[in-house]
Amino acid sequence: QDPRKEGIASSIRVVPHVPKGGIMFQDITPLLLDPKVFKDTVDLFIERYTGKDISAVAGTKMCRALRILEEGIEARGFIFGPPIALAIGAKFIPLRKPRKLPGEVISEEYVLEYGRDCLEMHVGAVQQGEHVLVVDDLIATGGTLCAAISLLERAGAKVVECACVIELPELKGRERLKVTPLYVLVESH
Ligand code: PRP
Ligand code: MG
Repeated sequence: QDPRKEGIASSIRVVPHVPKGGIMFQDITPLLLDPKVFKDTVDLFIERYTGKDISAVAGTKMCRALRILEEGIEARGFIFGPPIALAIGAKFIPLRKPRKLPGEVISEEYVLEYGRDCLEMHVGAVQQGEHVLVVDDLIATGGTLCAAISLLERAGAKVVECACVIELPELKGRERLKVTPLYVLVESH
């Protein structure tokens, strides 16, 4: 176990019954207030995905297909996705809540731990066959990541992995992702 993960785990504040009764809100804002822990979090992802980026550059005709992109799910996915994208030399694609993107979009509705929601992506943000890393702060029921995967696959992309800071294992979101691998830094019970 990487010792940095202990600092990350202890910097996540659990706020009971937010946004509604029974939900244990996993608050990452204390982590963001500690520059060392925030950097450790981003570094752990960069270390994992930088290696994959290098192997992609080594490809010839596979180059485009192996390029790793970044996908961010607002709003908390936007905190961790962009620094990883910049560090590994990938583009960043914001997946946004409805009516935020000005251009033509494709949409995917999904059920969340607390309610329904919808994700949208600009048409043309991703190319056919491109390999995408989906980044978010947290996986709870997995509904958000499933919607992200579905959007990207409808656009012809391949989601190579999903990466989250926190997993709530008892909600079994990992099972909903089916074949898409999931990498998390800490589990919260
Ligand atoms: C939270 C969290 C994840 C999602 C996880 O986002 O940031 O994206 O829920 O839940 P799930 O695995 O059950 O789908 P939320 O939609 O609350 O919005 P925010 O990121 O914009 O704050
Ligand atoms: Mg979110």
